[in-house]
Amino acid sequence: MSKITVATLKKMKAAGEKFVCLTAYDALFAQVLEAAGIEILLVGDSLGMVIQGHESTLPVTIDDIVYHTQTVHRGSKQALIMADMPFMSYINETQALENAARVLKEGGAHIVKLEGGAAFAGIVRQLTAHGIPVCGHLGLLPQSVNKIGGYKVQGTDAQSAKSILNDAKILEQAGCDVMLLECVPLELARQVTESLSIPVIGIGAGPHCDGQVLVLQDMLGITPGKRPRFTHDFLKDTGSVSAAVEAYVKAVKTGAFPLEQHSFTA
Ligand code: KIV
Repeated sequence: MSKITVATLKKMKAAGEKFVCLTAYDALFAQVLEAAGIEILLVGDSLGMVIQGHESTLPVTIDDIVYHTQTVHRGSKQALIMADMPFMSYINETQALENAARVLKEGGAHIVKLEGGAAFAGIVRQLTAHGIPVCGHLGLLPQSVNKIGGYKVQGTDAQSAKSILNDAKILEQAGCDVMLLECVPLELARQVTESLSIPVIGIGAGPHCDGQVLVLQDMLGITPGKRPRFTHDFLKDTGSVSAAVEAYVKAVKTGAFPLEQHSFTA
């Protein structure tokens, strides 16, 4: 695999070739995932839940993200490293720029991801003007769990679907290089993916996105509790971590995952 950049993802979208992303939080997994063909390693703030044992992603700090991104960077040679901007680390343009710069300079990430719609267009403009690629994150926003009242599918009525599509277009215009859609109906995800020229990554957003992401522990089937509908236990089918990740990569590339059974409808 040659070095993956934002430009690579854009070329893959244009060619109709699916790309594959998994969360990674340490050097060894970064190495294993990359060797299995993962193109994007996401240092997600999900680490607050799956690594640190918190109930939500809210306690994650910018220092946590920098630290885990450093470890992933040490284990990776070719993958694109995307790192989350944690809760309250981008409350204004100056603070967002300082924190995003740390994630790239100290952590070694290649792109940052931030949750939120049109209200964050100014921050996206500020970061991209300084050469920091940005992935927008729309649909279910886990950092807003207290406002939403739970981890619920978003964009299920005409008005909220229109607002997500509108936000996506505004964020692309503001300079986002990639967009991530979490837990939205598959038809809405298809509409967003077709409307944007930038690559769209889905999680719980159906099969029509340009790429797919899962939380590593979910796709290995080791997250305790009820497994969300949009994940699949690839370890159960295969028997080793490497084989599970290879199977996930193949399933996404061939369109075998996600299927309608892993998706939501309006
Ligand atoms: O933090 C994370 O792992 C994420 C994924 C759920 C996309 O943002």
